Amino acid sequence: MAKTKQVFVCNYCGQESSKWIGKCPSCNQWNTFKELTIPTKTSSSSFSVASSFTTTNNTPIKLTEISTEKDQRIDMKDNELNRVLGGGLVSGSLTLLGGDPGIGKSTLALQSALRLNSLKVLYISGEESARQIKLRANRLQDQSDNLYIICETTLDNIFAYIKQEKPDLVIIDSIQTISNPLIESSPGSISQIRECTTAFLQLAKQTHIPIILIGHITKDGSIAGPKSLEHIVDTVLQFEGDQHYMYRILRSIKNRFGSTSELGIYEMRQDGLHEVANPSGLLLSHNSENMSGTVIASTIEGGRPFLIETQALVSSAVYGTPQRSATGFNIKRMNMLLAVLEKRVGFKLAQKDVFLNIAGGLKINDPAIDLAVISAILSSNMDVAIESSLCVAGEVGLSGEIRPINRIEQRIKEAEKLGFKRFILPYYNYKNLTNTKKEIDLSPVKKVEEAFRFIFG
Ligand code: TYD
Ligand code: MG
Repeated sequence: MAKTKQVFVCNYCGQESSKWIGKCPSCNQWNTFKELTIPTKTSSSSFSVASSFTTTNNTPIKLTEISTEKDQRIDMKDNELNRVLGGGLVSGSLTLLGGDPGIGKSTLALQSALRLNSLKVLYISGEESARQIKLRANRLQDQSDNLYIICETTLDNIFAYIKQEKPDLVIIDSIQTISNPLIESSPGSISQIRECTTAFLQLAKQTHIPIILIGHITKDGSIAGPKSLEHIVDTVLQFEGDQHYMYRILRSIKNRFGSTSELGIYEMRQDGLHEVANPSGLLLSHNSENMSGTVIASTIEGGRPFLIETQALVSSAVYGTPQRSATGFNIKRMNMLLAVLEKRVGFKLAQKDVFLNIAGGLKINDPAIDLAVISAILSSNMDVAIESSLCVAGEVGLSGEIRPINRIEQRIKEAEKLGFKRFILPYYNYKNLTNTKKEIDLSPVKKVEEAFRFIFG
C-alpha cells in the first residue's frame, strides 16, 4: 500500500494547508479548500516512472556550460498558434490548453498534429475512441502518416507508451480523464490532476519531449482546479469564444517562453479551424447605410489592432428604475460613462434605458473604446447616425477629458488599411505623433464636447 498524506489545497491558487480553512490566506477566495490525498515523495509512482525513462546527471552545471540547443522551437505550421506560443512550441515544455467544453480544443490539437507530418506525434485520448478521432481527422482533410493514436487513461501505461514510441510531441486529451491508480480519488479530481500534471512535467523536462495537455476549464477556473495547475505547467493557453459565433480566440495566460499579450484568432468552419489574418474584416458588418447608435471603435487586443462595432440602444425607461445592460463591456464602466454624459451634455440618466453591445461577442477591456461607447449612446439617444467612414479611439476621464491611449500608430494604420476617412484621437497622442500627415484625416480632441462636435457636426 502506497504511503499517502492528507492536505487541503486551495482550488484557486494552489495554497496548501494541513487543516481546512474557509478563506484562503493567499488569494482571499472563500470556500476554495478541498481535501487531497497525495502520495508522499518516497511512494510517488509517477516520479519513479519518469525517472526510469532517462537518468539525469544531477550535478550542478555552470550557467555558461548549459546548452540551449535543446530549447529549439517546433514550428507548429500555424501562424496563430506559433504567435501565441511565442514563436513555436519549445521542446521539453508542458503546455496546458484550456477552454470550455465544445469550444474546439481537440480540433485545434488534432489539426496541429496532422499538419506536423514530419514529426512523430502521439495523441493520447481518454475521451474519444480512435474511430471518432479518425472521423474528425477526415473532416479536417489533413492526413499524416506520423500520427499515432492511443486510447488510454492510466498514467503508468501512458508513460510506457511514450517510452516505447519515443514521439517528438505528445498530446493528452484530456488531463481530466487521466489517473494514477495509486491515488484513491477518481479521475478528474484535483489530487489526480495535480499528480498527473506534475508527473508529465517531470517527463517533459527529462526527455525534452514537448507535451500538450488539454483541460476543460471555465474562465473562473471552477472545474477541477486548473488555477492550481497554472504554476505547474510552463504555458497556459486559453481557448475562448462564444459557441454561437464562429470565431475563437486563443490567448496565452502564462508563458515561460514568450509574451502573454499575444492573441490568436480562428474561425471554426465545417472543415476545422482557419486562421483569421484580418480580424477587423470579420468583425465589421460593412453596412453602408448609416444607422444611429453604431460607432466603429479602434481597439487593441493582445498586441493586435482591431476595429469593432460598438452599438447602443437608448429608449425611454418604462419602469421606475432604468435598465442598463452591457454585452462585451464592463457595466460599471458604462455607468461611469453615462454619469459623464449627464454632467457634460445633459443626458437624462434616470429616464433612459441603455443597452450596449460590442458586436461579434468579443469582450473588450481596452479603455480606448470609451469614446466610442459614449458616442454610440449619444447617437442612439438623439437618433442621429454617425458617418460609417469614421473611427474613434480615446479613454474618457471623469471630468470628460479625453485621455491618451497606447499604440496609436498601430491603430491609425489599421484604420487606414480598412479605408476609413477620419480618425478621432486624443490630443496628447496627436501631439506626440512624429508624422501627422496621413491618408486618413486625424481629428485630435481634448474633451468629449469637442469629440461630439466632430462626430455630430
Ligand atoms: P471539439 O474540438 O470537440 O471541442 P473540445 O475538445 O474543446 O470539447 O469541438 C467541438 C465543436 O466543434 C463541435 O460543436 C463541432 C465543431 N466542429 C466544427 O464546427 N468543425 C470541425 O471541423 C470540427 C472538427 C468540429
Ligand atoms: Mg475534446
